[in-house]
Amino acid sequence: MGIKLDQGFSQELVSELDQELGSKLGGFAPDLYLETRMDSIDQEMLEAAKIALSSAYAPYSSFLVGAAILGSDNKIYSGCNVENAAYPLGNCAETSAIAAMVSGGCTTIKRILTIGSGHEAVTPCGGCRQRLREFSSHETPVICVGIEEKSEPLFTTIEQLLPNSFGPRFLKVDK
Ligand code: THU
Repeated sequence: MGIKLDQGFSQELVSELDQELGSKLGGFAPDLYLETRMDSIDQEMLEAAKIALSSAYAPYSSFLVGAAILGSDNKIYSGCNVENAAYPLGNCAETSAIAAMVSGGCTTIKRILTIGSGHEAVTPCGGCRQRLREFSSHETPVICVGIEEKSEPLFTTIEQLLPNSFGPRFLKVDK
């Protein structure tokens, strides 16, 4: 998918945004890019995810993850990974954040941010993509960040992470 410039965005503006972010557009339409570039809400979500990451319980993998969800109520819900000696029973950070959101009375995700150990931006695992999709639209932005400052953030969407996904409407549930 190429960069679409048919929506009133000049190549200069796109390059400027590109530079500002310090990464390549990687196939995003400029409107989506503008919507998902780090703004003040993203910064707040990043802070919340970092705090959650600092509480991660990961004695087995030592891989710490934090997730922040912006709900449709404009509240930020966060969570960390919680491992277990019985390995398969561990929870991902995204799962914890979803549990916090639903417990808080919200069932619609406006935006998701994940941060994790390592050099690369941490993307949600397959299972979490499906869990997030339950409460998202195809266009819901997902921002993935690595803990090291030099790691490049990834700006993506639920549809890009989980194309042609199965969801509530297959079971005639309108979300
Ligand atoms: N992990 C997450 O919390 N989220 C993901 O999307 C990827 C993986 C956690 C699970 C486990 O505790 C550790 O990272 C290593 O897999």
